[in-house]
Amino acid sequence: AAIEKGGYEHFMLKEIFEQPNTIYDCLRGRLDANVPNIVMSGIDKYAQQIMNAPRIIIVACGTSWHAGLIAEYIIEETCRIPVEVEYASEFRYRNPVVNKGDVIIAVSQSGETADTLVAIENAKEKGAIILGIVNVVGSSIARVSHAGAYTHAGPEIGVASTKAFTAQLAVLTMVALKIGHAKGSLSIERFQALCKELADIPEKVELVLQQNEAIKALAKKYKDARDFLYLGRGYNFPVALEGALKLKEITYIHAEGYAAAEMKHGPIALVDENLPVVFVATKDAYHEKIVSNMQEIKARKGKIIAIITEGDAVIPTLADDVIAVPAADEIVAPMLSVIPLQLLAYYIGIAKDLDVDKPRNLAKSVTVE
Ligand code: G6P
Repeated sequence: AAIEKGGYEHFMLKEIFEQPNTIYDCLRGRLDANVPNIVMSGIDKYAQQIMNAPRIIIVACGTSWHAGLIAEYIIEETCRIPVEVEYASEFRYRNPVVNKGDVIIAVSQSGETADTLVAIENAKEKGAIILGIVNVVGSSIARVSHAGAYTHAGPEIGVASTKAFTAQLAVLTMVALKIGHAKGSLSIERFQALCKELADIPEKVELVLQQNEAIKALAKKYKDARDFLYLGRGYNFPVALEGALKLKEITYIHAEGYAAAEMKHGPIALVDENLPVVFVATKDAYHEKIVSNMQEIKARKGKIIAIITEGDAVIPTLADDVIAVPAADEIVAPMLSVIPLQLLAYYIGIAKDLDVDKPRNLAKSVTVE
């Protein structure tokens, strides 16, 4: 087992550290940032239909659903096609409106999640085009889909998803850039810039991983907290949801992810000196806004842990602790900002002496309802 874990103590840690390679593998042979060009054979076949789709519906569960939420922001921005993101379990039972020509994207690591599988089977009968973004080759969801793209992250053993998530983001971003470029809704300059940004991600993830020791120290400091709040805006809002999910799964600490501005409609009532609040606050269009959300937490004595962009001079004056990640376009930044949150959950789990690879009550893939 030690050999399987490649010298790491747990699969989860190994898989977190594999991310520079898995993202690279996912981009390799598809993205050429020099031309620039993106080739994805499955998607290419349906490019015309996707471009002309009246709407796109993304269905998924768990961590894959969070990747879908980020993709919603990216696709709407770059392709100007309306996108909805649905929990597969809700979508399949609520008699949703699905029309011929709608594009359904199923996102799934295992390709076997029962709710996601049935959701796309139903939508297929109604004439939708089904694309599968799946990790496990030849899995049920891959077979039911008309076309799709594999995430090529390799086997993910840790129950809590890490490397599959960032690979899903890499694939979904390529799909969005490709369609946006083909459609002309994305300018040539922006397409070029974003291809380059995407190609630079594996190296930047490597740099984020160098913060390992600092994050381990943070975990020791905060491991006894009873609750955590995770906040983000824009592309980083789903990252906050994912950070909270990782913490719940691995450490059994209650954590809530929220859109930072929405906090004043409820969760702010919970803030006191005992509540750590994790801000996903890399530099983007929402930066000033999130700084003011941070001031609101500080005024109520909440402890602030912030994921920031290197060189940010403002947030370190407000936050109790910061972890900096390299600068990146806001569209690709989630692949960086999520890494410290994966490590934080992992190290708190370790500090609490828990079985991080097999958390209680959870299954790697939920093939029954
Ligand atoms: C389970 C796993 C999660 C995963 C979710 C969706 O809950 O524990 O890690 O995100 O299922 O699985 P899928 O294979 O469809 O991505």
